[in-house]
Amino acid sequence: MESFPTPDLSTNPYETERLLAEYLLFHYGTSDEILPASAPPGMKDALDFAVRTTRHFSTGPVARTLDLGCAVGRSTYELSRHSEETIGIDFSQSFIRAAAALAEGPLPYQRLDEAHLRTSLLARLPAGLPDGKVAFETGDAMHLRPDLSTFDRVHAANLLCRLTEPQLLLDRLPDLVKPGGELVLATPCTWLGEYTPPENWPEGSTLEWLESSLGSHFELLRQSDEPFLIRETARKFQWTASLLSVWRRL
Ligand SMILES: C[S@@+](CC[C@H](N)C(=O)[O-])C[C@H]1O[C@@H](n2cnc3c(N)ncnc32)[C@H](O)[C@@H]1O
Repeated sequence: MESFPTPDLSTNPYETERLLAEYLLFHYGTSDEILPASAPPGMKDALDFAVRTTRHFSTGPVARTLDLGCAVGRSTYELSRHSEETIGIDFSQSFIRAAAALAEGPLPYQRLDEAHLRTSLLARLPAGLPDGKVAFETGDAMHLRPDLSTFDRVHAANLLCRLTEPQLLLDRLPDLVKPGGELVLATPCTWLGEYTPPENWPEGSTLEWLESSLGSHFELLRQSDEPFLIRETARKFQWTASLLSVWRRL
């Protein structure tokens, strides 16, 4: 039986309580819970990233959808609105536990405000989701299990530049997406040595690297900037523009 790498709970930041709370807020927080009273208008436009990226697929129902690096699952749940079967995969055990637990009911967490100050909040799924169409599993996007089969839609948001060898995922994508199927990739292109050794960064621009890696199997339909906002404390936010690209499998 093939063995898969186990997340290193001591060093993986995505296993920490701090990032779990940050991502529950990022994916499920209301604008009142995320934004300060003094927020400039641009901050509001950057909310709901995990919903907005899923809207780049064409409309209409499909059979199978895969969400890679799904974190605490908001995009996976959104994708399930138009898919018979949706699988969310992430390397973080604590993120996947939280994503699955949300199907059972609201999940309490502590938003960091500053120092020792926390606010108790509840993450809850939005209304109107279909029942029982989502499955979550831990897995490594660079070594996906061989029996995943193929999908009509594959979504991977802000994942590529968190992988040690992102090329391994790009090489697997042609086998994951059905002919005529769609792929939505988003990446803030924040290449950092602590996640990806510099020798595995793109040589030129990230978009050129995507085009040269995917171009013989996928047609690039369009690209755009998709802003997102992650609240770290009551006074500190990450505002980032992710490079979003939409591809059709040839
Ligand atoms: C920057 S977060 C983005 C999460 C989510 N897609 C979003 O846009 O909010 C990167 C995610 O990738 C996951 N991740 C990191 N390495 C991974 C790997 N090798 N396989 C699958 N997921 C991985 C992390 O656990 C984390 O949930």
